[in-house]
Amino acid sequence: MVATNDTTVLIFGASGDLTSRKLIPALFRLSQQQYLSVRSPVIGVARRPKSHDEFRTEMREKVQARLGLDKFDAAAWDVFANQLFYQQLDLTDASEYAMLKTSVQAIESQVGAGNDASRIVYLATTPDLIAPAVEGLDVSGMIPPRESKSILRVVVEKPFGRDLKSAQELTLTLSRHLQESQIYRIDHYLGKETVQNILLFRFGNAIFEPLLNRNHVDHIQITVAEELGMEGARGGYYDTSGAMRDVLQNHVLQLLCLIAMDPPSLFQAREIRDEKMKVLQALRPGVSGPIENWAIRAQYTAGLVDGQPTLGYREEDRVNPNSNRETYVAMRVALDNWRWAGVPFFLRTGKRLPKQMTEIAIQFKNPPLNLFSTVECDGDLCDLVETRPNTLILRIQPQEAISLRFSTKRPGMNYQVQPVSMDFEYGAHFTAQLPEAYERLLLDVMRGDSTLFTRSDELEAAWRFVTPVLESWESSSAAPDFYPAATWGPRSADQLISETKACWRAPK
Ligand SMILES: NC(=O)c1ccc[n+]([C@@H]2O[C@H](COP(=O)([O-])OP(=O)(O)OC[C@H]3O[C@@H](n4cnc5c(N)ncnc54)[C@H](OP(=O)(O)O)[C@@H]3O)[C@@H](O)[C@H]2O)c1
Repeated sequence: MVATNDTTVLIFGASGDLTSRKLIPALFRLSQQQYLSVRSPVIGVARRPKSHDEFRTEMREKVQARLGLDKFDAAAWDVFANQLFYQQLDLTDASEYAMLKTSVQAIESQVGAGNDASRIVYLATTPDLIAPAVEGLDVSGMIPPRESKSILRVVVEKPFGRDLKSAQELTLTLSRHLQESQIYRIDHYLGKETVQNILLFRFGNAIFEPLLNRNHVDHIQITVAEELGMEGARGGYYDTSGAMRDVLQNHVLQLLCLIAMDPPSLFQAREIRDEKMKVLQALRPGVSGPIENWAIRAQYTAGLVDGQPTLGYREEDRVNPNSNRETYVAMRVALDNWRWAGVPFFLRTGKRLPKQMTEIAIQFKNPPLNLFSTVECDGDLCDLVETRPNTLILRIQPQEAISLRFSTKRPGMNYQVQPVSMDFEYGAHFTAQLPEAYERLLLDVMRGDSTLFTRSDELEAAWRFVTPVLESWESSSAAPDFYPAATWGPRSADQLISETKACWRAPK
């Protein structure tokens, strides 16, 4: 393994949940695998006073609790802990950044980081602190001038705005101090191994890609289903956000880009993001007329999860009892380009659905002539059913897999067709543990590879598409549709897809 060049990682918001749950465990794993040079200090920054040792102890306890004692490698932690430091700072106080710069330089020389060390600032803070943070970095001279060889990269966490206007304002704020190439907008979904595999599967095999177009594909379904509701006091935040902002605008549209984009001329950040951008530029409502013809919002009501009664959304902790906030979105969209003209894309995401599951299902057209009868059998008992089209399923989580459904002759004296499935499961094939999304993404920031990060034009294009829908919903006093917890969504979503004679997949 080759360690990256010496890189100082500053985490703004180091006493927060994201730092202890994701960032420090990911950096620890990178250190264990020797991707993080021993001369790369990790400096936590937040308002609370804390010594270096207190920070180290706190992080050790949290990582140990997360991994479990048997999986926690104490010797490896001791190596990593030597690289951990803490600096108290109020991010809103511009006068404190000069002191930050001095202590960062002192720490860098203490660990022996080279003079050409690069720096990463990870903004693990609320969005209102982004502007003061980049301004403070700039005023203190921590953002190197364009012509300098020094490197500073800034990682920004979602949410990237809450509509088109606020996203544009955020872009403007960042661009006053940073070049676009210094900004890494993180969408942890893109760090998942199976999400990255979408492009490799499509463009590393010759047999599937020629089929992915309007000539062969009937429709595509993208599902991001969550089983959880508002656990962990999430209701307060969620009631201001909802399924559209939280998941559809970013994760679902990113998956759409990856499955629908054309091959890039080079497998490099700019070329890949250019192709994704073209998909977003071609994105349209799937049918004409009012928004409700192609976009459905709904909210979960009380239900039974594993036999236990659960609350409806409006009864959840910190949720407005009259809230119209959507916990479910389904959309029929289209791509106005040569490859996909006329192919419906059905997108859906929701909370309190029957299971946690993310998948892309590509349903192919039926054979032009139906020569055989199709059966579905339970043992020797078979029922005649409608022809089952071929389906290619890319399961992103859990149990990451790729399945191809096709028809085969049922053994016997008749020409009967039975649908079967050819499955590739990551877990069964690869013994190596799949890296956590944050590990991969942090390493990419250190390497300066922005392929898996969202560019400002992609972000704006996604907001440009969803903002009119959000505005229409939020300006209306009409209630959303409802669905009982642990079901696959409202009836209106079934109608949305059944107009094309298709139906939603309901994986077991
Ligand atoms: N948690 C997750 O799993 C997750 C996932 C995806 C995205 N995100 C995003 O990541 C960001 C951070 O989330 P989080 O859950 O870690 O938040 P959090 O638990 O509320 O932590 C916020 C951090 O900011 C620090 N802070 C607040 N005001 C400050 C100030 N004026 N100066 C310096 N530090 C200040 C707090 O520490 P002090 O109080 O000590 O200053 C704390 O360390 C948010 O934008 C969130 O949307 C989080």
